[in-house]
Amino acid sequence: ARIVVLVSGSGTNLQALIDAEHAEKAQRAEKAEHAERAQQAAKAEPAAPAFGATAAPAFGATIVAVGADRTGIQGLDRAEQAGIPTFALRVKDFATREDWDRALRDKVAEYEPDLVVSAGFMKLLGPDFLTAFRGRVINTHPALSPSFPGMHGPADALAYGVKVTGCTVFFVAGGVDDGPVIAQVAVPVEDGDDVATLHERIKTAERALLVDVVGRLARHGWTIDNRKVTFQ
Ligand code: GRF
Repeated sequence: ARIVVLVSGSGTNLQALIDAEHAEKAQRAEKAEHAERAQQAAKAEPAAPAFGATAAPAFGATIVAVGADRTGIQGLDRAEQAGIPTFALRVKDFATREDWDRALRDKVAEYEPDLVVSAGFMKLLGPDFLTAFRGRVINTHPALSPSFPGMHGPADALAYGVKVTGCTVFFVAGGVDDGPVIAQVAVPVEDGDDVATLHERIKTAERALLVDVVGRLARHGWTIDNRKVTFQ
């Protein structure tokens, strides 16, 4: 499956996806090399069965482009280092927010993605974008939806005093951090946490969850019935 990832910041979620793709490729190359060696050996000494090749870890997604709403961010550097095409479209370079939304839609469409992954993308996607990619845009939120939507999930959880928070990967429906939930992981709030320590603990869980969800969507496909997401 082809995926376009949208970022605005440090891009550690993006990095986790890049690493998953690379791990799968490396395993596949190793397996092919092993098979070739086994074939050579079989020629020299026929009937030697090729045991021992390790199974490739399933991921199934290819990052075909990384987009951002700003320049000079680590997220774009990570993509460039991995040799992935990048683009940046800044709202302030467009006459209206709607023009930006349409330009983003057109740019992403050039890469013909099966799935768009908003991974720490700090702009709300507009109606034109979401109409074009309906049911194919996912986002990750550092709280257990429907609790603590918005930009400050970890801070709001801490201020509220909850003892358990977490992260949510969901299909973007248009509201703020609202849409059919695909998967969630709970993360404890510990005594002595500040926003940074709590967010870091959430992000560790979030990266693993995002890789898992993107891989499962890519490998199995999905349906969305009202708010219920089913893997096929
Ligand atoms: C994540 O916690 C995401 O949910 C939130 O911002 C963070 C992005 O982190 N909206 P990174 O850029 O992937 O490191």
